[in-house]
Amino acid sequence: MTDQQSTVQAMISKMTLEEKAALCTGAGPWATTPVAHADVPEMIVTDGPHGVRRVGNLEEMGSQSLPATCFPSAASLAATWNPGLLEEMGRALAEEAVALEVDVLLGPGVNMKRTPLCGRNFEYFSEDPYLAGKLAAALINGIQGGGVGTSLKHFAANNQEYQRFSINAEIDERTLREIYLAAFETAVKESRPWTVMCSYNKINGFYGSEQHYLLTDILKDEWGFEGLVVSDWGAVHDRVAALKAGLDLEMPGPKPSRTQAVIDAVEGGEMDEAVLDEAVRRILTIIMQAQATAKGGSFDQDAHHALARKVAAESMVLLKNEEVLPLSNPRRVAVIGRAAQHAHFQGGGSSHINPTRVDAPLDALKAVLPDSEITYSEGYAADLSQDQALIAAAADAAAAADVAVIFIALPASVESEGYDRANLLLTAQQEALIGAVTKAQSQCVVVLNTSSAVDMRAWVDDTAGIIQAGFMGQAGGSAVADVLTGAVNPSAKLAESFPLKLEDTPAYINFPGDRGTVHYGEGLYIGYRYYDAKQIPVLFPFGHGLSYTTFAYTNPAVSATEFTDADGVIVSVDVTNTGKQAGQEIVQVYVHDQKSTLHRPEKELKGFAKVALEPGETKTVEIPLDFRAFAYYHPDHQQWITEDGEFDLLIGASAADINEQLTVSLKSSLDLPSLLHEESTLQEWLDDDKGKAVIAETIVLIQDGIAGSFGISDEAEGGIGMDVMGFLMDMPLLSVLHFNDAALPQTPEEIVAGLVDLLHG
Ligand code: BGC
Repeated sequence: MTDQQSTVQAMISKMTLEEKAALCTGAGPWATTPVAHADVPEMIVTDGPHGVRRVGNLEEMGSQSLPATCFPSAASLAATWNPGLLEEMGRALAEEAVALEVDVLLGPGVNMKRTPLCGRNFEYFSEDPYLAGKLAAALINGIQGGGVGTSLKHFAANNQEYQRFSINAEIDERTLREIYLAAFETAVKESRPWTVMCSYNKINGFYGSEQHYLLTDILKDEWGFEGLVVSDWGAVHDRVAALKAGLDLEMPGPKPSRTQAVIDAVEGGEMDEAVLDEAVRRILTIIMQAQATAKGGSFDQDAHHALARKVAAESMVLLKNEEVLPLSNPRRVAVIGRAAQHAHFQGGGSSHINPTRVDAPLDALKAVLPDSEITYSEGYAADLSQDQALIAAAADAAAAADVAVIFIALPASVESEGYDRANLLLTAQQEALIGAVTKAQSQCVVVLNTSSAVDMRAWVDDTAGIIQAGFMGQAGGSAVADVLTGAVNPSAKLAESFPLKLEDTPAYINFPGDRGTVHYGEGLYIGYRYYDAKQIPVLFPFGHGLSYTTFAYTNPAVSATEFTDADGVIVSVDVTNTGKQAGQEIVQVYVHDQKSTLHRPEKELKGFAKVALEPGETKTVEIPLDFRAFAYYHPDHQQWITEDGEFDLLIGASAADINEQLTVSLKSSLDLPSLLHEESTLQEWLDDDKGKAVIAETIVLIQDGIAGSFGISDEAEGGIGMDVMGFLMDMPLLSVLHFNDAALPQTPEEIVAGLVDLLHG
């Protein structure tokens, strides 16, 4: 037993049943319940993922939290594809949490972007679980490396805001494992978050807070999660059922009725006290871990603001650029759009930070372009109202300038935690504004402070440039000026596909659900997996992002063309900066399985690397691919499996821009039991190596039977024709044998049962 384990054990032995039950529910909105006589201190938790929302003295500050740096939100962070940068930001978050006396920061969220409509997409990383998992792990490692805990949330399948407290997400096991749990799994295994927060919604009929399968079987037992599971705020329905499922800490509190329910359950024999002790042990372990870092002091606001600027600049995706950017000393710039003056830099809801300061894009542009004449037109109001005069003034200003930059942010009533967007469009006023301005000025750049994909069909072709600036954090105004002027060469790429229109999106006909249930009918096929499969063109593909320089890929290579899954392979490629400016390129590796027993997406992201290059410089990028890069989850085997065969390794600059392709041959190290059973089809028997061997003799009987039944003689027809065999392939072996019933040594049932026994015996 470690010192910490014995301290925790000693604490538990001093606690009464009442105290243990009370510890499992919070003492307030943000604090756990202290137990003075057992030396158990309180632990302070607070939102949120991209800043510290420490609620101060209510009388002095009302609902306003203490000032803290508002960094870009997760959707923007993901576009950096830069784990090292996220780790650095995590360190800064930890410093602020320490200064503000916070033990655990409630984030990050790694739910998948199943639909661009989800109101909370700004708080989530990606539509791709690999990317989301790696980035979340980096952020967590940074925060926890600074002695502050995290809460990986919302476990699981909180992919919409519509009825988020109750909706039942119906998801098949394989989709759950490969898409909706995979990012959690990566983050848990690679960064060991102190806490995991359950989701509000139901998953396959059970609340996230009462899911033994998710909270205990998978998270704790299979993935080895050692921290505590906390409820989302108010997510617990039946406290005892939740405890039994593995939900350790209920927040917020106090809730005397919950404590009493737990006491009653133990005293009445409905719940073993060991279940409670295990939750208490986990909670105390984390509380003690938090105690190891002394809290208080201050943080360097200037340095963190500068870091927020660096991160924001690296998160801005240059979607389109027809030689308009970077702005090179323009004489007259028309800055248009309310968001230029009132920076729209974060989302509404629980993650809302009270920033230490805010850089407005307009001020920042004036600062970096001191010799330009810069005008400002509001263009649209903060709400959905329409005002022709605002549009006319903006168009006039644009016509009188050399270049126009329009800043667009959706009203908070359209995009926020708490509700989903109704469509992918900008407001009618904003669309009309872009239309009028682009008519007046061909050199027009649109900067989007939106959190997710936008339908741009009405105006995309009329603009010369588009920057996805996202919810860019408090220093975003300066960062966007850096990108516009080329002080920073953009190096971000989309972490989500931008479809042409809502009707093209994967969940379109299964969203947001009705009668309390949302059916994830698209299965594994979200994001680019769907657009690939259906060959649906998108506006901007996953992984897309431009730079002010250009890159060339050469010499693709792989460490071995034949390998086992246990060894994996390393893919390498030379990347050269072929332009005139220093820049960074994000190299992506997707894996395509040429043949698999179960259907698989066309390709899946399994590795990436970001590389910085001076003009003319070449670097070799190496990307390792391990077992999981080739595996898929097989629900019948109840495990991740690999299969022998050929895989294509696609090296590209985006999901739609594959530069190089290599083919490798994998030998699986798994010896899986055969899944053949009494109802398996003839085709399934023949496709299964072991099955094929076992039925070799039976095949003769089958062929005789078929020949007899169909009156085909081997000589006359030259054997059983493929048309007949093809017709039979999808029949259960049993049914096929029945064609020859009379001539069989045993009944078909006995024969098949014997074959199945032989396989499994
Ligand atoms: C949100 C969580 C958040 C919690 C505490 C909930 O409504 O879903 O993400 O951490 O509130 O503010």
